[in-house]
Amino acid sequence: MSVESPVLPAAPAGPVAVIGAGTMGAGLAQTAAAAGRDVILYSRTEETLARASAAIDTSLRRIARREAARPEPGAAADPDQVRLRIALTTDLGDCGEAAVVIESIAEDLTAKRRMFAELDRICAGSAVLATNTSGIPIGLVAGATSRPERVVGTHFFSPVPVMALCEIVRGPATADSTMAAARSFAREIGKQSIVVDRDSPGFVTTRLLTVLILEAIRMVEDGTCRAADIDLACRLGFGHPMGPLASVDLSGLDVFHDVASGLHRATGNPVFAVPALLGELVASGHHGRKSGRGFHDYSDADRTEVGGG
Ligand SMILES: NC(=O)c1ccc[n+]([C@@H]2O[C@H](COP(=O)([O-])OP(=O)(O)OC[C@H]3O[C@@H](n4cnc5c(N)ncnc54)[C@H](O)[C@@H]3O)[C@@H](O)[C@H]2O)c1
Repeated sequence: MSVESPVLPAAPAGPVAVIGAGTMGAGLAQTAAAAGRDVILYSRTEETLARASAAIDTSLRRIARREAARPEPGAAADPDQVRLRIALTTDLGDCGEAAVVIESIAEDLTAKRRMFAELDRICAGSAVLATNTSGIPIGLVAGATSRPERVVGTHFFSPVPVMALCEIVRGPATADSTMAAARSFAREIGKQSIVVDRDSPGFVTTRLLTVLILEAIRMVEDGTCRAADIDLACRLGFGHPMGPLASVDLSGLDVFHDVASGLHRATGNPVFAVPALLGELVASGHHGRKSGRGFHDYSDADRTEVGGG
């Protein structure tokens, strides 16, 4: 990994295509449009596009309200102007003119490879083809195209309009010019980038966070400390905005179980071994906030921790 160099060329000019209109796709389309880019947001269905469109409206209104309430309001992008820059489509062919393409469909290698084979067929040879995967090695996705040198990992964070980081991942064949273009684009839309030079599963951030969360779970499991106190320690002791167990409750214990076991399988590193407690909670349907219970209880307003202590 290396830190950001201040000398970068301008990002490739032209429209940005965002492929997949879920949580991340909607946030990416909004953020690129707020930075002044014309955006084409693609999804397979009109329903998903309508949901993404509503989510973008809500987020833009919230940002505009927050800006207006500040003592010295900044220049928040005009929500109407931002909306006008986002075209919605269910026709992937409409993305053929894009200078930068960010794929943000499901975290599924087969689906991503199929999508990249299609993008390879329809996009200009000069386009930067980026995948917003959380941890799938870029080489595996790039291998579905005839131009792996133009494929790069751009791992953004949720919610995209708010979170300032983009992890930029070099695949085995990614060209320096593609890396520079991706970093310039991230900067243009207001993100700081870190560069991951080795295309390894989980990149940097997913690997680090997984270790912290797994160790927190092991401490709940062996009775070292209660979930609420571990979260408090990380918030007050380390300045984390949210403790590791509250954070895994938010992203979903089932999703995290898949991430950790995937990393364990891919690396063989015992630090990624999944503690029995996590498997038991997932098997019992305790998937975190979305199911009402994970390491904390969300069944009523008063949150209490479960799972040990
Ligand atoms: N949610 C996060 O916190 C987060 C953070 C960073 C990166 N990511 C990554 O971003 C990507 C998208 O995540 P998300 O949270 O937006 O997921 P999501 O489920 O909200 O959205 C994914 C969208 O892709 C669509 N889709 C699925 N398979 C498809 C296919 N074969 N072709 C076209 N569309 C397809 C789905 O219908 C859905 O609308 C994933 O790779 C994920 O790992 C997620």
